[in-house]
Amino acid sequence: MTDRKQRILVTGGAGFIGSNFVLQAVAAGDAVINVDLLTYAGNRANLGAIEDNPAHVFVQGDICDPESMGRVFREHRPDAVVHFAAESHVDRSILDPGAFIRTNVQGTYTLLEQAKGYWSRLAEEERRGFRFLHVSTDEVYGSLGPEDAAFSETTPYAPNSPYAASKAASDHLVRAYFHTYGLPVITTNCSNNYGPFQFPEKLIPLMVLNALEGKRLPVYGDGQNVRDWLYVGDHCSAIRTVLQRGLPGETYNVGGNSEKANLEVVHAICDLVDGLRPDARIGERRRLIEFVPDRPGHDRRYAIDARKIARELGWRPSITFEEGMRRTVTWYLENSEWVENVRTGAYREWIRQNYEARLAQ
Ligand code: NAD
Ligand code: TYD
Repeated sequence: MTDRKQRILVTGGAGFIGSNFVLQAVAAGDAVINVDLLTYAGNRANLGAIEDNPAHVFVQGDICDPESMGRVFREHRPDAVVHFAAESHVDRSILDPGAFIRTNVQGTYTLLEQAKGYWSRLAEEERRGFRFLHVSTDEVYGSLGPEDAAFSETTPYAPNSPYAASKAASDHLVRAYFHTYGLPVITTNCSNNYGPFQFPEKLIPLMVLNALEGKRLPVYGDGQNVRDWLYVGDHCSAIRTVLQRGLPGETYNVGGNSEKANLEVVHAICDLVDGLRPDARIGERRRLIEFVPDRPGHDRRYAIDARKIARELGWRPSITFEEGMRRTVTWYLENSEWVENVRTGAYREWIRQNYEARLAQ
């Protein structure tokens, strides 16, 4: 990768992917200004390794607040923005869509406005180098049938959940700021991520921790919904590649070439936890699997065609699903203090809201 060191304004850098990105960027020699509201999903402990590193500045702030975002641009004068901040959990968007409209739509609009104001006043050379990289999802493309071709950059948008719809709206705003104002934006649409620091409301960490503790493993529907899994470190390296070499106005799909049915993923987790933490009282973890009522509007299959980013920018995933899962399960087993700290009262309330009725059926 070209080694152009940058001063990057990261939003949502205390969340799962954002914190992995910040750690990777700082290790590579970039400076990061990290703006995060620290919602339930944000956690400064994710950044413990760079707490005293002067290359990382943390600002607790809301992307929906134009004054504080304007101040961040003026005071820190970034070369680029990498925008992760979002409400990101589909099940929460079904129960409370309003929070998703606020942060994902209103927040992205506010950030674009502040970025545009800052960028338009830069000197010519800085203006040319500036980038606004919007981190989005494959869920904006909707659901695939078993034989359908994978999502490409030209697949029409067809979002099905309030989460996906709010991300689609933000993608359209980002696109409009390029076409209307010339703001040098780039969008990445990535498949499902997994790895260290993922909040344990998402499939993989939830199943790892339940399996470890001998709790029931709630698989929605028939467990045959398919996702294309990518190790988070590979997503971060894709974003850094796009930041260095991507073209303004373009979008790049990012995926792992690793389609798995949910049941297959849960089986892999059970077998890994059995191997790493055998427990005679629990026995084989696969017996903890329970099929529970499905998520409303549950997309059947996602798959990413990542040939454009490979062809044009030379990025490919480097971690196989087996290796990534081994690393991830090991990380959760070895970081019980992190796990205990995120499982607060609010977390337990979410588990009650989403699973109590399902598991009672
Ligand atoms: P996350 O929920 O773990 O983290 C989101 C972060 O944003 C948190 O730290 C939270 O505190 C912060 N945040 C929320 N509202 C904010 C606000 N108003 N102002 C400032 N900060 C705010 O999410 P994640 O899984 O790390 O996802 C990051 C981005 O990547 C999202 O935009 C998501 O849509 C996208 N994405 C995620 C996946 C995935 O599998 N997790 C896949 C593709 C794309
Ligand atoms: P999730 O991690 O929420 O990601 P997304 O919905 O953004 O793809 O879920 C991944 C898949 O796992 C999805 O098909 C829903 C399913 N799932 C379960 O079967 N049980 C669960 O408890 C959760 C959280 C998800």
